[in-house]
Amino acid sequence: MAKEEYTINDLPGVGAATAEKLRDAGFVNLMSIAVSSPGELVETVGVTEATARKMINGARQNMDMGFETGADILERRATINKISTGCKSFDELMGGGFETGAITECFGEFGSGKTQVGHVLAVNCQVDDPDAIAVYIDTENTFRPERIIELSKGAGLDPDHTLRNIKVARAYNSDHQMLLAEKVEDLINQEALKVRVIIVDSLTAHFRAEFIGRGTLAERQQKLNKHMHMLLKLADTYNCTVYLTNQVMARPDVFFGDPTQAIGGHVVAHASTFRIYLRKGKKGTRVAKLIDAPNLPDGECSFVVEAGGLRDV
Ligand code: GTP
Ligand code: MG
Repeated sequence: MAKEEYTINDLPGVGAATAEKLRDAGFVNLMSIAVSSPGELVETVGVTEATARKMINGARQNMDMGFETGADILERRATINKISTGCKSFDELMGGGFETGAITECFGEFGSGKTQVGHVLAVNCQVDDPDAIAVYIDTENTFRPERIIELSKGAGLDPDHTLRNIKVARAYNSDHQMLLAEKVEDLINQEALKVRVIIVDSLTAHFRAEFIGRGTLAERQQKLNKHMHMLLKLADTYNCTVYLTNQVMARPDVFFGDPTQAIGGHVVAHASTFRIYLRKGKKGTRVAKLIDAPNLPDGECSFVVEAGGLRDV
């Protein structure tokens, strides 16, 4: 990717002090600067706009921004991990588990199990790697450490250790939520934490509550879009699994079939790599339907939520 000898310190307009500020602000490599906007650098590093442009151009010129061969991508995909749901049929549906380097969005009605899946991922990412960290951005105050303890035991992990490796932040409004997502980079770069899963539960609740009425829809979508891009960048740059939960609303214009629709529209749908529709099935089961997936067939599976985790029916 980046040419070996060229680093942030070699960029035009970057002295030792600016280089340090850049690193503090999470700009640790040429890629992070090449894909940022001048405004972002002006705001976070305090350089002038002209300098910011020079830095961005310098970063862009000194790395291969463009095309990779299919073989390169195959090699990169070899670094992708899959986090198991603990449930065979659910894992199979997802091609082996929840992929790192991708966003998986799960939408469904209340009680369909979206938050439970989030808790399961926070625990199960630690099964193969005791240093793995899960970040849980909680917007509805539904994170439950007691539940993590049960799930840890179910997965054969030490609950104290599991809890220590989950970083929870309560988001009080949509701006706060967006800021917390940005702060995940600090955990990775400054605290050197091995963040494997980032959970945002719920992605859309604050946005939905704060932007009411048609007039504010464009503004909401714009902010949501920015948030999604931040999350995409985290997934992509740091090979994390990003898991988002999303509510549904009834579509007044659908009379046949399922009238539910995810909040957030195209902005959320397009940025998500995988989309799962969760619903309640017969006899307390849950049904997960894979809707959008780049390389997997659409399909369904059933599971139950048990004390120790998700299990096959
Ligand atoms: P909203 O956030 O309200 O939209 O719902 P959700 O989709 O997040 O639902 P959630 O994940 O909270 O699922 C709730 C369901 O999970 C319950 O109806 C229970 O069936 C199950 N569940 C929740 N907590 C536990 C638990 O501690 N043990 C077990 N065995 N099941 C649980
Ligand atoms: Mg929930």
